[in-house]
Amino acid sequence: MKAILSIPVLMFLAASAHAALPGDGAEGKRLHDANCVSCHGVSVYTRQDHKVRSLDGLKQQVENCTHMAQKEFSPAEKQDIVKYLNDQFYRFQ
Ligand code: HEC
Repeated sequence: MKAILSIPVLMFLAASAHAALPGDGAEGKRLHDANCVSCHGVSVYTRQDHKVRSLDGLKQQVENCTHMAQKEFSPAEKQDIVKYLNDQFYRFQ
């Protein structure tokens, strides 16, 4: 019973934590949709065995994919993309 009751509390804590992640998620979505869906769609982020397991891992993967995509993003743009992906899909704290 206790475990069931704590789930909404954890979700609430998780939600407040991503709000704290710096960046502009709407701009991140725009950059993502324009640059990141030629090789994979958004389903790679939510597939059952997805590879990214932490916020640091997500930052690293965005770095790697930026190179693979042969794009140049400023640190602020990468932060926006990370924020979008984390808020929308991964929800790491
Ligand atoms: C040149 C092709 C290519 C482009 C363009 C690309 N990616 Fe990827 N991405 C990959 C491949 C390949 C994988 C690994 C897929 C797998 O393991 O099945 C991947 C995986 C990922 C993952 C990890 C998914 C997981 O398993 O959790 C993230 C996050 C990601 N990409 C983000 C991005 C972002 C952000 C962009 C735009 C900057 C981008 N990708 C553009 C090829 C690409």
